[in-house]
Parts: sequence; C-alpha cells; structure tokens
Amino acid sequence: MKGRTGAFAATVVICSCLIFVYTNLNPEGPVTRCVIPDIPVRSVTGHPRPSVTPDTVDGKVNRSQLRDVRISTVHLSTVFRTAIPQSGAFWNRKFYSVLKKLDKKGNLPKSEISGNGTLESTESLQTNIADFNKYPSIHQDFLRSMHFRSPDILINQPNKCTSNGKPDTVTLLFALKSSAQNFAQRQTIRQTWGQEKAYENGLLVRTVFVLGTSSSEEPDLGKLLSLEAQEFGDLLVWDFKDTFFNLTLKEHVFLKWSILHCPQVSFIFKGDDDVFVNTNAILKYLKSLQPAKVSKLYLGQIISQASPLRDPKIKYYVPHTFYDGPYPPYAGGGGFVFSGALLESLYSITWFIPFFPIDDVYTGMCFQALGIVPEKHQGFRTFDIMEKDRENACVHKDLLVVHRRSPQQTLRLWQRLESPLLTC
Ligand SMILES: *[C@@H]1O[C@H](CO)[C@@H](O)[C@H](O)[C@H]1NC(C)=O
Ligand SMILES: *[C@@H]1O[C@H](CO)[C@@H](O)[C@H](O)[C@H]1NC(C)=O
Ligand SMILES: *[C@@H]1O[C@H](CO)[C@@H](O)[C@H](O)[C@H]1NC(C)=O
Repeated sequence: MKGRTGAFAATVVICSCLIFVYTNLNPEGPVTRCVIPDIPVRSVTGHPRPSVTPDTVDGKVNRSQLRDVRISTVHLSTVFRTAIPQSGAFWNRKFYSVLKKLDKKGNLPKSEISGNGTLESTESLQTNIADFNKYPSIHQDFLRSMHFRSPDILINQPNKCTSNGKPDTVTLLFALKSSAQNFAQRQTIRQTWGQEKAYENGLLVRTVFVLGTSSSEEPDLGKLLSLEAQEFGDLLVWDFKDTFFNLTLKEHVFLKWSILHCPQVSFIFKGDDDVFVNTNAILKYLKSLQPAKVSKLYLGQIISQASPLRDPKIKYYVPHTFYDGPYPPYAGGGGFVFSGALLESLYSITWFIPFFPIDDVYTGMCFQALGIVPEKHQGFRTFDIMEKDRENACVHKDLLVVHRRSPQQTLRLWQRLESPLLTC
C-alpha cells in the first residue's frame, strides 16, 4: 500500500499539470433546503474477512460505539446544481435522479438517499453503463460498492477528545489517511509534528490515523495494528478494503466518527501520512482568523478549473460514461483544514451526493454543494516546493504543509525547525 500511496502522490503532481482549463466559478446563488432523514445501518456481505477483531462485547460488536448519527438539514447551493450538466453519464444521472425527487420545500425523500448498504449488481451496471465491461477493474469495484457507507468500526478511540470523561476543547485534530503498512510514517508523525500536547497558549492538538483493512492478497497485519492501537491510542480502523478508490468512504466514516467522538473540535486537518506539517504555523494562522471566517473555513492549496482526466492509463482516469462536467474548486487532498462547525452539514451531504472515486474532488463537491468557498493559502504545498529548498528549515518556517516527505526527511526538518540554534 505504501507503493500505492507513493504512486498516488507522484501522479497528483503530474495530473495537476495536465489538468484541462475549464471555467466553472459562478457567483454564489440562492440555496435550497433539503432534509435527509436517518437511514438504517446495513452491512455488505461477501468481502474478505476483517483482519482485525472488532471491538466486541460478548462476541458482538459494541453497538453503542456505532450509534447512528442524525443526518441534519442541509442547504444545497445552486452553484453546485448548475455546475453539474444533465447528461447521460452514470454519476450525473444518479445526481439528477436525486434532484428530481426534491419536494416543493426542497426536502429530500428518504428513498432517494444515494447511499445504502447494498452492492450494485454487475448486471445492473452493465445495463446502465454501455461500456462498463471496458472499465478498469478498480473502477468496476468502485461502482459496485459506490452505495456502501456503513462499514463496522474495528478499532475505535472513543475517548480521543475527552479527559476524565469530559470533552476537551481540541483546537486541531489531525486526521491522517494511513494504511496498515505505513508504521514508519505514523511513528514519525507521533514523534514530530503530530505530538499530542498543549501547544502555545494551551491549544490542544489530537491525532488519529484513519485506516481500512488489508485485502486477502496482502499480509495480515491485523494483530500488529491491534497492538499499535493499544500502545498509542490513535488508530481508527474500519472494516473495508483500504484502496485508493475507497478513500471517499474513508472520509465519510471519519466524518461520522468526529461527530460522535470529537464534536467540539475547532478545526480538522485532513491529509496523507507522508506530509510534513508545521503545526505551530498552522495554529498561529488559525488563531489569527477573523471569527466570521472560522465557521466556514475550507483551507488549503486550491485546485480550480480542473476537469476529469480521460486517459485510462492515468490513475485519476474517470470514464466519460461515468462522470461528465468540470470539477469544483477543491483543496489538494495531501493536506487541508476545515472548520469543526462544518462537520455535521458535510457529513449529511455525503448521504446525498453520490460517491466519487477521487476523494479530494468529492470533498470539493460537498463543500461547493454546501455553498462553502475554498480558501487558498500559499503555505499549503501539496505539490511540493523547489528541489533546492527541500532540506532548508528556514524555507519551511513559513510553510504550513509540504507534500511529500519521507520519515527521515520529516525527522530532520523537525529537529532543525525546533532547534534554538536556528536563525533565519
Ligand atoms: C461500549 O462502548 C461504549 C461507548 O464507547 C462504552 O461506554 C461501553 O463501556 C462499552 N461497553 C463495553 C461492555 O465495553
Ligand atoms: C440502494 O441505492 C441504490 C441507488 O440509490 C438503489 O438503486 C437501490 O435500489 C438501493 N437499494 C436498497 C435495498 O434500498
Ligand atoms: C471498498 O471496500 C468494500 C468493502 O470492503 C469493497 O467491497 C469494495 O470493493 C472496495 N472498493 C474498492 C474500489 O476497492
């Protein structure tokens, strides 16, 4: 999986340079209200057995840790609705079939929630997508499980944001997409920028690593993960295959977890486990924000005017018959920050907007649907900085996020940045 993550990162760089130009920024229009009711949790059967044992009570998953989260009333922006063309592409059709069902008040009937526990059958996909058989197999897998949103949690940290049973005022929660193999990355983060402590002015930082399970083709690291979770108390593991195209599902379950277990958090940093973060600089920046800005914050390196890449050889390939239209402006998924005040609406809208295989594009869609405009910050370098500056601590003093650094590079940079001898 490490190699996969690496290739992923490298492709981001290439893709960002290949992206087509497309103008899609409209002024914010009026919003429609829609109510998304609770839906029952169902589970998918037939996928590989989890390699870690669920948090069990008498042999049963501890259901009280899996309480369903109420899906709240969300506003759907017209900017988003008008950005998505009504076309024959599968995703577009799914989206429009949901839109058509909005009632006069703009409420969404329960039957139209785009996610449920079922797998879509191959027959149904072949009927609905003429060239489905020509899709790469990972795209086919994605489509089959596109509605699956309720995997069980296998390793939880229900007390991550509390002390002595009382909620903590966590300023910043690092939520880092990781996978079983990436122990060195996680350990580096624990030792450096992800340390859980009170920073300047008593600001509290907490860190979680968000994982799925490995597939049957990979060595079973479940036992190690359980031990690691006991030792460090920062792993969240869900029962789904940890693949690139399941990162959207990973985001969805993480949002749910945050609402349940860290609802009072001020800001969330979502990113990869191979980024370098200047935690002090981020905290300082967040502290300096105008209160009006705080509750609507979606901050990062913003990729605007992008469109799907249509070359099947590219990792980010999106077939014409799957999605048609531009991408919304979105923050590069290597690392971005958003306001904890947005957790509930963001989670709710993920029940409504069909899943998209590229997680950061999907997040951008959700924020656009909520009418939140992304904010660019020059300190987020998800496509890295010039080669000559990569070991220069002074250059990193003013940066917030750099993608990507090896564990060794991160340790070196951190030691230099923390050194009292550093003069820039
Ligand atoms: C189940 O989880 C809840 C919530 O985290 C916890 O309070 C409770 O003690 C757990 N039950 C058992 C029997 O472990
Ligand atoms: C699950 O959702 C899909 C897409 O909205 C729908 O076609 C399917 O009928 C739903 N299945 C169930 C059992 O509700
Ligand atoms: C996502 O995880 C589910 C559950 O493990 C699995 O059935 C599905 O194939 C995975 N999807 C992809 C695209 O890997």
